[in-house]
Amino acid sequence: MNVRSTPSPKREKRNDPSNNDQKTQVDLIIIHANELVTMDSTYGVPRVGPDMKNLALIPDGAVAVSRGSIIFVGTTKELIVNFPPSEETIIIDATNKLVTPGFIDPHTHIIFDGYRENELGMKLAGMNYIEILESGGGILKTVKATREAPLAQLIKNGKIILNRMMEYGTTTIETKSGYGLNTENEIKSLLAAKELNLEHPMDIISTFLGAHAAPLEYEGKTDDYVELIVSEMIPRIAREELAEFCDVFCEKGIFSIEQTKKILLTAIRYGMKPQIHIDEIVDTHGALLAAELNAVQVGHMLKSNDKGFKALKETNTIATLLPGTPFCLMLKEYAPARKMIEMGIPIALATDLNPNCWTESMQMIIALACYHMKLSPAEALTAATINAACAIERQEEIGSLEVGKKADIIVFDVPNHNFLPYQFGVNLVSKVIKNGKIVVDFE
Ligand code: NIG
Ligand code: FE
Repeated sequence: MNVRSTPSPKREKRNDPSNNDQKTQVDLIIIHANELVTMDSTYGVPRVGPDMKNLALIPDGAVAVSRGSIIFVGTTKELIVNFPPSEETIIIDATNKLVTPGFIDPHTHIIFDGYRENELGMKLAGMNYIEILESGGGILKTVKATREAPLAQLIKNGKIILNRMMEYGTTTIETKSGYGLNTENEIKSLLAAKELNLEHPMDIISTFLGAHAAPLEYEGKTDDYVELIVSEMIPRIAREELAEFCDVFCEKGIFSIEQTKKILLTAIRYGMKPQIHIDEIVDTHGALLAAELNAVQVGHMLKSNDKGFKALKETNTIATLLPGTPFCLMLKEYAPARKMIEMGIPIALATDLNPNCWTESMQMIIALACYHMKLSPAEALTAATINAACAIERQEEIGSLEVGKKADIIVFDVPNHNFLPYQFGVNLVSKVIKNGKIVVDFE
């Protein structure tokens, strides 16, 4: 079954200065970037294999922005000739600085209430993720707090997270419900995401994850809970247009392959696009199911087998790797990113921000990807920008600095992209531009 459209063909570049008649208002320009990472010529297609290292860099790079969109990308010299700034133009001098597309975080769980900082002690005492969950901690603890929280509280929590994400360079995220686990509270969570998307400059793509765990009242009756999801939650959420994607935590002891398939086939029928958490703790052949459903993206994949990888390679599915999670679970094993890149599977990176693995920083994730999964800094940056855009089907709008795309741009206070993992654990951002406006400025 192919539930997805094929990528659109590469478009012609439109860096055409003859377009710049008297009427073009240049709102903002960035000039003299020591390294301008454009990720150019990738419209519609993720970068795979050796192409993940190709950042399409422009030295002494420049970008011009008008009405929220990019109207020019090239060298500073070309920009000054073709798009001279007016009195009103904001000029950002990026001498000695790195300029990249805004980060896209394509897998997060930001809608929740309460904390789980106590679980670190449990992990240090040797308990694993499933044991913590079975003892009433983990997802179920967050479900209790989230059900008790009013909508306004979830929005307030979300804003704090989104502000910090943006300070660290993220300009678009995907986020999921999944801590409500009944119709009323799943809808409350998705309404919080919708409201945040309206109120906050961050662009937010919503995913329904009612199948995050069976709630306590369905203990031992997971099939009945699946029935509730397919007969009540999905139709209602689809009718109210609250989610573009549907996700399932497909894992031993959580939701089986058969249950996952039932949920996602229903979601597809109702017009939602499929994605899956697969093979995080145990290999349940989640990758084969993802390939069968042509899932838009899959998360985790620590334990996926070669047969699954080969099947995935034949699809358009993006493998979104979440190295923050094995880091927080103190696992030695990370997803086999090198093998996947060598096989030609497109890789994206995401924070997986949730109460178990809480970081807003894609810079941190880039560092983990390099140090623990052996990605090069260039591959990691590709995975956090253009490939992450593909993971949420937004590659025609964001993920690279190309004429016609949204002006979502990061200026870093470092001279080149190798610094992103090298100088780790601190925020290297100087400025963040979202929809052509400066939303973060540390200078
Ligand atoms: O992607 N694995 C399932 N869901 C989240 C964790 C959620 C939680 O622990 O609260 C994840 O890692
Ligand atoms: Fe997740």
